[in-house]
Amino acid sequence: MVPEAVCMSENQTGLPVHIGIIMDGNGRWAKKRGLPRKLGHKAGANTFREIARYANKIGIQYMTAYVFSTENWKRPKEEVDSIIELLRAYLNEMDGYAKENIRVRFLGDRTAFDQDIQQKMQRAEEKSASATGLNLSLAINYGGRAELVHAARKLAAAAAAGELSPSDIDEDMMGRYLYTCDLPDVDLIIRPSGEYRLSNFLIWQAAYAEYVFLDQVLWPDFKPATLDQALAEYQRRNRRFGGIG
Ligand code: IPE
Ligand code: IPE
Ligand code: MG
Repeated sequence: MVPEAVCMSENQTGLPVHIGIIMDGNGRWAKKRGLPRKLGHKAGANTFREIARYANKIGIQYMTAYVFSTENWKRPKEEVDSIIELLRAYLNEMDGYAKENIRVRFLGDRTAFDQDIQQKMQRAEEKSASATGLNLSLAINYGGRAELVHAARKLAAAAAAGELSPSDIDEDMMGRYLYTCDLPDVDLIIRPSGEYRLSNFLIWQAAYAEYVFLDQVLWPDFKPATLDQALAEYQRRNRRFGGIG
């Protein structure tokens, strides 16, 4: 029999251990107000600050936010540039997270960004590495498929070098080759804005996640109370992991 601890990652309060948030709807939020899309992203960044702090305050252990996907490069250059500028500004204030006991990580291929951005990411990770509160991950230039390809290449290289044999590869090992190697599987994925899809977010890690899709809320309007509602919905779910529950 599989021990319960392997199947269940809820903590004793019934809260999810790891929440994923697809921060969608910034563009529509701006459009509704007759504003340029970049102001929607700015408002979305403010919401992210608030929700990260709130998650830390209520004792969430892991939160991963989808900031920029491998597919988002398809957007007009002006919009992509404005998102990267927001990221740069945000990284400058990230030193504060260590003081708030929030540990920061970045998931995705960061080599696509300028050196100063890569350095700031590394600095934020290092400065906050000993924090014991919320583990806050930002998925940036992240795609679930790209992550699996990256892992497959590393595994194949290790096999070619004689460091492992193909039969050594199992689900645990696969997990250790992903960007999320030191994070638990995601328990709850929240997506505002009325889109009912993953859009290439955490496709491996979400195998048994619960989903809360919010069709009345665009990300910049997402409030701590909205997170509370999603958590309450999660607590009503019956997770079975293939068993009979
Ligand atoms: C999410 O908001 C932010 C990013 C994808 C970077 P969108 O920009 O996708 O907002 P909508 O979906 O166009 O409203
Ligand atoms: C997903 O949103 C990516 C982020 C929120 C960063 P998109 O707006 O890019 O997703 P699609 O294109 O509607 O599927
Ligand atoms: Mg969108």
